[in-house]
Amino acid sequence: MLAQDPLPEPALAPFGAVLEGLQVADDDPATLRRVVGALHRHRVVALRDQRLTPEQFVRFARRMGRPQPHIKTELRHPDCPEILLLSNVFREGRAIGIYDGAAYWHTDMSYEAEPASATLVHALQVPEQGGETLFCDMAAAYEALPAARRAELEGLQVIHHYGNRSDPEEGSRTSATPLTEEQKRAVREVRHPLVLAHPATGRKALYGVAGSSFGIVGLEQSAAAGLLDELKRHATQERFQRSHRYAAGDLVIWDNLATLHAASLIEPATGPADSRLLHRISVKGLPDLAA
Ligand SMILES: [Fe+2]
Repeated sequence: MLAQDPLPEPALAPFGAVLEGLQVADDDPATLRRVVGALHRHRVVALRDQRLTPEQFVRFARRMGRPQPHIKTELRHPDCPEILLLSNVFREGRAIGIYDGAAYWHTDMSYEAEPASATLVHALQVPEQGGETLFCDMAAAYEALPAARRAELEGLQVIHHYGNRSDPEEGSRTSATPLTEEQKRAVREVRHPLVLAHPATGRKALYGVAGSSFGIVGLEQSAAAGLLDELKRHATQERFQRSHRYAAGDLVIWDNLATLHAASLIEPATGPADSRLLHRISVKGLPDLAA
C-alpha cells in the first residue's frame, strides 16, 4: 500500500500506482484525498475489487469533478447518462458501447472547450486476453525535452476538433468513432495550450499532441502537423509508457491533463470468455476536497 498521500504535490513519482485497501463507495473524505493525491502524483491509479453500482460510480465521479455525458448519446448508460459504455458485445449487429474508436493515442474530450480533467473506468466484464489500455506520461515526456525545445513550445496554442489527426478515415479501426451528421454539425474548433501547467500541481506537461490536435495558431499547416507529429513520436516512446490490464472490479482513473492513452484493439465477443464491458465517466474541473 502506498504511504498516506497528503494533498497533491508535484513530484517525480513513478508513473502509475495501484491503491489497495480502499472502497470508493464508502463516501469517506479520506478515501477521496488518497485517490486524488495519488492521481496527481502518479497520473494513473488503479483500485482493485471496487463494488460499485452505476449510481455509486456516478456519485464518486461527482466528487472527482463534473461528469460530462459523451457526445455519442446512443452509447450512454440507459439509466445514468454520465456513464459511457465501452464494449465488444454486439446486439442486432451493433456494439452496445464504444467498440473501436479509441485505439489511437488521444486524451479524452480534448476537442471540447473545457477538456476532461480525468477519466474513470469501472471494469464489469473483461476478456481473458487483451483489452489493455496504454498510457503515456506527458509530464515526463515534457521534462525529457531539451531546455531550448521546451522554451520554443511555451505559449503555443493548438487547434483541436473531434477526430484523429493520424487516421481521419471513417471506418478505419484506428480512427475516432464516427459521428452522425447531426453530431458532425455540432463540432467546433477549440484551442488549448501545447504546454499545460497542471491546475492542481503546477507541473508542466505536453497536452494533446495526438488525437484531436490538427493545427497550431500562427504556424502553417505543414509546419504545425510536423511539430505535432514530432512531439507525438517523442512522447509515445516506450520509456514513457505503461499499460493496464483490467480485472473485473478494477476502477482505473487517469489524469487527462498529463497523459495520453490508447485502447488496444479487440475482436467482437463470442461468449463470456472474451466479452468486455467497461463503464466510463469523464469529468471536468478539479475534485472538491473541501466538500
Ligand atoms: Fe479515451
